[in-house]
Amino acid sequence: MKKFLVIGNPIKHSLSPKLHNHWIKEHKINAIYEKKLLKKDDLKNIIKEVKEEKIQGINVTVPFKKDVLSFLDQQTPKAILTQSVNTIFKEGDAVIGDNTDIGGFELSLKHINYETKNKKIFILGAGGVVPSIILALKASGVAKIYLSNRTKEKAEELKKIDKNIDIVNWGETVDSDIIINATSLGLKPDDEINLNFQRFGKNKLFYDVIYNPSETKFLKEAKKSGNNVENGKMMFIYQAKLSFEIWHGVKPTVDEKVLKLLNND
Ligand code: ATR
Repeated sequence: MKKFLVIGNPIKHSLSPKLHNHWIKEHKINAIYEKKLLKKDDLKNIIKEVKEEKIQGINVTVPFKKDVLSFLDQQTPKAILTQSVNTIFKEGDAVIGDNTDIGGFELSLKHINYETKNKKIFILGAGGVVPSIILALKASGVAKIYLSNRTKEKAEELKKIDKNIDIVNWGETVDSDIIINATSLGLKPDDEINLNFQRFGKNKLFYDVIYNPSETKFLKEAKKSGNNVENGKMMFIYQAKLSFEIWHGVKPTVDEKVLKLLNND
């Protein structure tokens, strides 16, 4: 039986096993997908297990997406550009790291038929997932990306990925069509982002990378001000779908059953 894992710390709340095992069953594949809590020191050994074919594939989540890079034989261009790996597999003799978060973000916008071409984007946060979001947006031909982060230096660092990004002071707003929360603010019920929502106007798209809770204060406020909202659930599902395709060579379906499976609040 083939073995797949998602590794991270914490990992208890990961919904990846639920989703992958659903698709594994649907496609009658002889495999199991489990979650594993790891420490940074364990990364080298777990990747060795892929080399030895004891494990056929690994999803990597917070906080190890960058840490795993140095233990891989090869990285795909997407992984190199973002310095972020969420999918590991073996091809020939090489253990390869790939990034399906870029595609996951892209497909989540396609899922709601949202056209990003020529749009102005405002990203809040500069954490691990942001390089993937920037690359997806850049490829789709957006007009402009603005970025704001509490720690400004971290925002400046991201100019390495796209030198045309404009940095906005934390707490300030800028005229934009899509406002993305890529901070961890909203994971806890009391978390609030200090933003003047009225200044964005109406009918914008507010996108929160967080999907649990399904509606953060950021999305609640945006809705109240007459905007469209989207949480991170579809991005999560589509990054998983892309990993599944890499490992199993089949395209799993994203249907009502899959959406229901992940209803968690
Ligand atoms: P990860 O890489 O796991 O996504 P991270 O690098 O810790 O997580 O990123 C979390 C993001 O949320 C960062 O942009 C962080 O801002 P800083 O770079 O200034 O730390 C942001 N964030 C977390 N708590 C915040 C808070 N209380 N106020 C504003 N931003 C916050």
